[in-house]
Parts: sequence; structure tokens; C-alpha cells
Amino acid sequence: METVNDRQRAGERIEALRERLRRADHDYYVLSAPDLSDFEYDAMMRELQQLEAAWPEFFDENSPTQRVGSDLSEGFRQEAHHWPMLSLGNTYSLAEVEAFFQRTAKLLDDDFEIVCELKFDGTSISLTYEHGRLVKALTRGDGQRGDNVTRNVRTIRSIPLQLQGEGYPDFFEMRGEVLMPWQVFEDLNREREQNEEPLFANPRNAASGTLKQLNPQVVASRRLDAYLYYMLGDKLPGDSHYDNLQMARQWGFHVSDAMKKCRTLAEVSAFISYWDTERKNLPFATDGIVLKVNSLAQQEQLGYTAKSPRWAIAYKFQAERARTRLNSVDFQVGRTGIVTPVANLDAVQLSGTTVRRATLHNADFIENLDLHIGDMVYVEKGGEIIPKIVGVDVDHRSEAKVEKVHFVVTCPECGAPLMREEGEAAWICPDWQHCPPQIKARLVHFASRRAMNIEGLGDETVDLMYRNGYLRDITDIYRLTVEDIASLERLGDKSARNLMAQIEQSRQVPFERVLFALGIRYVGESVAKKLAYAFRDIDTLANASFEQLAAVDEIGEKIAGKLRDFFASPLSRRQIETLKSYGLQFALADDVGRPASDLLQGRTIVISGTFEHHSRDEYKAMIEAHGGKNAGSVSSKTDFILAGANMGPAKLEKAQALGIRLVDENEFLAMIAAPSADSVQTAALSGPQSAVPETPAAAPAVAPKDAPKARDEAFMNSLFDDM
Ligand code: IVH
Repeated sequence: METVNDRQRAGERIEALRERLRRADHDYYVLSAPDLSDFEYDAMMRELQQLEAAWPEFFDENSPTQRVGSDLSEGFRQEAHHWPMLSLGNTYSLAEVEAFFQRTAKLLDDDFEIVCELKFDGTSISLTYEHGRLVKALTRGDGQRGDNVTRNVRTIRSIPLQLQGEGYPDFFEMRGEVLMPWQVFEDLNREREQNEEPLFANPRNAASGTLKQLNPQVVASRRLDAYLYYMLGDKLPGDSHYDNLQMARQWGFHVSDAMKKCRTLAEVSAFISYWDTERKNLPFATDGIVLKVNSLAQQEQLGYTAKSPRWAIAYKFQAERARTRLNSVDFQVGRTGIVTPVANLDAVQLSGTTVRRATLHNADFIENLDLHIGDMVYVEKGGEIIPKIVGVDVDHRSEAKVEKVHFVVTCPECGAPLMREEGEAAWICPDWQHCPPQIKARLVHFASRRAMNIEGLGDETVDLMYRNGYLRDITDIYRLTVEDIASLERLGDKSARNLMAQIEQSRQVPFERVLFALGIRYVGESVAKKLAYAFRDIDTLANASFEQLAAVDEIGEKIAGKLRDFFASPLSRRQIETLKSYGLQFALADDVGRPASDLLQGRTIVISGTFEHHSRDEYKAMIEAHGGKNAGSVSSKTDFILAGANMGPAKLEKAQALGIRLVDENEFLAMIAAPSADSVQTAALSGPQSAVPETPAAAPAVAPKDAPKARDEAFMNSLFDDM
């Protein structure tokens, strides 16, 4: 029996755990000085999750457990900014910085200080705090109205959900920049490349793209960071910008240390030139320096133009660009046959590295530049990882007869005529069965960590084995012997045995990963998983019709077409039969991903509000386990709404307008309990991981430290000397 005492004890423990975890988040994400081990952190987080599940009356949307994000998907509501979000006047010239300084001096006719700060290159955010709690986060939008991205912002660990200390106003806003650190950006793009998803051009796009993600769990997994640089309110504690930011830091906000009060133009210039160099060592992107008049009274005196404050200006750094000579163009063939033109250049220094090669993107880009060999070209590194050619210095085109750059018409590696698909920019070598770089890249992909996880079969080893005739096809991997491997230069007996053990282990890799490993065009990890769960074994999948394939959630006609092509090829069929005979997994185990019942078959159900008995994730898992579909927004296709307390008013209104039934949690649990008490028990109690395998595991409480290894290392290395 529960007693009042139990309840009180649980409440106290919950509060203590929340407090401790909040402090740990702040130490880790803001101060970069963790005081809890990952193990202790995880243990406390788990305890808190369990207590909160057992005592739903203590639910708090600002609890550290809510950082992992719920799975609700809906569009973003636009809301008006309490104070408009202005932009800054900006300049690339020091002369204009001087003009700003002189104008300020003249208008104020008094002493003043200028605070110099970094200009963070992310996406701006406005956070509203009431009584120390984060209540709302809006994007900039058009400056007057922004998207409400609160649920996503809650997953950013360096943004406090609950302020610490004292002295904060009852109602105020903090503005700042949401960033994606370089490391996270590079890892993310590598993963996207592997899954054949479009890459983000720079961390800014990646950060804003992530904030607009509909699924907060995805946001949580992307490890965003945020710096706050502007406090707004009617009753602020300090009378200067600088003092207010120092206080904000005390309350738990991530405020940069790279901030200086300057009294003279010389000090401002020194700050600018120092950071123009030093910013290259920062773990995130910056694109300039912001200068702000420090005194709030003086800010008010200077006022605003229609678009921006007169008391601040942004000085933007020149994107790093160099001019050099184009010597030749290579054409590289990737795993999927896409041919990328790469410029060979006279070596030139750019952002601390020597650049000799840069991407030219595709045939249209070369044509638009009207590129000629011997041209003096501009190379930029900007926010991107891979240097790119951005223009031609046409004035310096040599008078001599110069050779125009033509995109190749046949594959530079195997000679096959290239093809271009309708509406695509890329030219492709279609002979995937014989083209060596495609074969090698497929082997490397097959062995990669997220696929078959055969450690030791990276670029170099694959290349070596390919050249020596041991590996020509993925099936060859399972025919390798210790003697074969050990006979190769560089690989001794010990590494041969290790590699053999890795290969042996890979026979147990589950079907969905084997499917991903096959490297079928557009079949990344999540598509592979969907296919595996929908068809359960390779023969059913291989024999599925175009319509059956396209009917699977998230599999469109494009993917269905590629799958049909793949399975129509005798080579693929043979490959699969051979791999089967080597014992690889080509079917899901019987107990994996089977629905608990078909009670909700064909039903589309929206979850809304907060619940007492189970979390949203658990309800989602139950819906799927019983054959139903969980949708994010209410539409005429919705069969019913699983409605908890505090259901959103917009949803409620829509449901009423469409005459959609609301089902409360007790009724829902009874509904799925109908056929056999047993199956309900399992489905209801087993939680998201075991009930439905597709539910992604919650993001790790602490950012994972072992980032995936570079997949396109070879290409990157070929572009830089010093990486
Ligand atoms: S202050 C009214 N400080 O740059 C002044 N902005 O157009 C509000 N930014 O939209 C902005 N770092 O997204 C300020 N230290 C900094 C900044 C900063 C980056 C961004 C911000 C703003 C844009 C300027």
C-alpha cells in the first residue's frame, strides 16, 4: 500500500535528483567541468525516470528527464515576439567600425564603453523565462513572429530549464545563438553521407535545420550547444549589458568568456584582430565580432532605426578565400557511381592548411564558371569542410589558347558511358558491377561499423586485398583464409587472425543491418530497418512488387524502383544466395518486431496531453505493437485521439471540428486488453525498447564520446595536407 509518507519521500527524492542532475548538466555543458562520472549520471537519470513514471503527479516539463525529447510530431506554432527580434547593421570594413565608434561618441557626448563579443554563426533563439523557468523558445522568424520550438530547445543541455541562484526578474528573455559544434557537424555529415542523405553545407544550416526537426528525439541526438548574449526585460538587475550577462552566467546560462569592455578604438581593433586568428581554434563557427554600447541608459538614448539598434554593429570577418591556379581536373567515382569533379591547384594556404585540391561539385557548376585550365580561381573554406572553388578571376585569363574544362562522358575508372537521371545534377557511372572504385567503396561500406562491423577492413586494407585479387565482391570476404591475409604486405599473422574473428562474428549481425550493408541505392539505415520489419526476410522482400514496396511507410517510388532494379539483377541474387550459404542473417528472428495483436490494425491514432500510467513513448509503442499507426497531427484520417490531461487547445478544437473521438488512457488500455490478458501485459509493461523495435532508444544522457570514424577520410585527405 502506498502511504502519504511514500509519496512525500518520492517527491523529495525526485527533487533532489533533479537538482543534482541539473547541476551536473551545467557543470558538463556550460562549465565543461564534469564532476559526476557518466556512470553515476546515468544511474541517477534512470532512478529519476523510474520515480517519475511511478509518481506521475510529480511530472514537470522542466525535469532533466524531459531533455531526451518526446516523440510527438507536429508543425510549429508561430507566435509573436514580446519584443521584436532585430538584426544588426553589419560591415566588413574596419573603417566603418571606426565610423560607428565616432558616431556613437558624438551622439552620446559622454564617456562610454563598447562591449566586444564574438559573433556566433548559428541560428538565433529567444528564450522566455518566468519565475526562473523556461516557458518558451522562439526562432527569429521574420523578427516579429517566430516558430515555437520550445520542445526542441528543451533538449539542448546548455540551456537551463530552471535557473539557479537569485536575482533574476520574474519575466525576461534571453537571446542567443544555437550552434552545432564542428565535431558534431562533421560526424553528422559523415553519417548522412553513409545513409545517402543530403549533406548540410555548414554548421549554421545544420543547427537551424535541426531546430526545425519535428522529432525532438532527433534534436536531442544532435548535440546542439547555445551561447546567450542579450538580456531583455522591463526590470533587469544590472544597468549595463556586461553586468547583466555576468549575472546570467551565475543563473546557469552559457555566456561566452570571449567578451571585453573597451574604451578606445585601439582596444576594439585589438580584440578584432586577436579573434580573427584565434577563432580558428574554437570548437564552433564564428563569423565576426559584435560591438555593443555597454550602458543600458546610453543604449536607450541612441535608440533604433527601423531594422536595427543604433547602439550595436557587427563586424564580419572575410570568408577565407585564396587565389590560385587551376592545373587540371580529376573525376572521382564514389560508391554509388556519382562522378565528382575535383580541381588540382597550385598549393595555397587557407585557414592554416595547405590546399591543393577543391571540389567543383558537378558538370553544371563547371559550365556556369566557363572554367579553363590555367585559370586563376578563388578557393574558399568558409563554413564548409571541403574547400570549394567559388569563382574565376577572368581578368587574368591568359591570352594564350586555353583549354576549356569539359566534364567526362565516360567513366574515368572503367570506361562505361556516364548517365544522368532526369532532374539530377550528378552524372553516374552505371556499371556498378565492374567499376573498381565502386566495388571497393561497397566493400568498405559493407564492413563499416554500422553495417557488418568488421573492424580491420577499411579503405587501405580493402584496396590492398582488391589489388591482390583476394576481394572482388562482398562474398569474397567470407572466403578469405588466414593464409591469404597473412601473405599480404603489412598484415601479419596476428592481424590476420583478428580479422578472421571479426568476419566470423559478422555472421550474427541482424538482418536489417545486413540489408543496409548490401549498399542498395537510397537504402540507408532507417530504410533498411523499415524494409526488414515490413517483409521479415530477404526472399519476401526480393519478390515484393513495386506497389508492395512503395506502400511501406517512408518508402517512396524512388526507393521502390531502386529496390526492384537491385533484386532484378542476377548478380545481386547470386550474391545474396552465396551470403546465405555462408550463414549471414537474411531473416528477422521470430520474436523480433512481431505485433502483440492486430487489435488496432489499420487505425491511425494521435497521442495528445500528459498521462498517468505510461509515458507517451510507451503508448506509442503499444499502438504500434497492436498494429496501429501513431500520427503526429489530427486529420480526417485520424481514427481516435488517445487524450491525456492538458491536451493542446488547437488539437482539441480540430478534433471536435472533425468529430474525432477522444479516448482516455484507461479506455485505451482496456481496448488493447480485449483478446488475451497475456499479450496486453507484455505489451503494456515492456516499454518502447522491447515492445516495438523501431522506437529509437532514448538519446544518451551524456554526449557520446566515441564519434564514428571518418568514412570519407580518403577523399578529405586528398583535399587537405594537414588534416
Ligand atoms: S546581439 C539587437 N550578439 O547575429 C541585438 N547577435 O544580425 C541583438 N549574433 O540575429 C543581437 N552573435 O543571431 C548579438 N554576440 C552576439 C551575436 C549575435 C551572433 C547573431 C544574431 C543576430 C545576428 C545579427
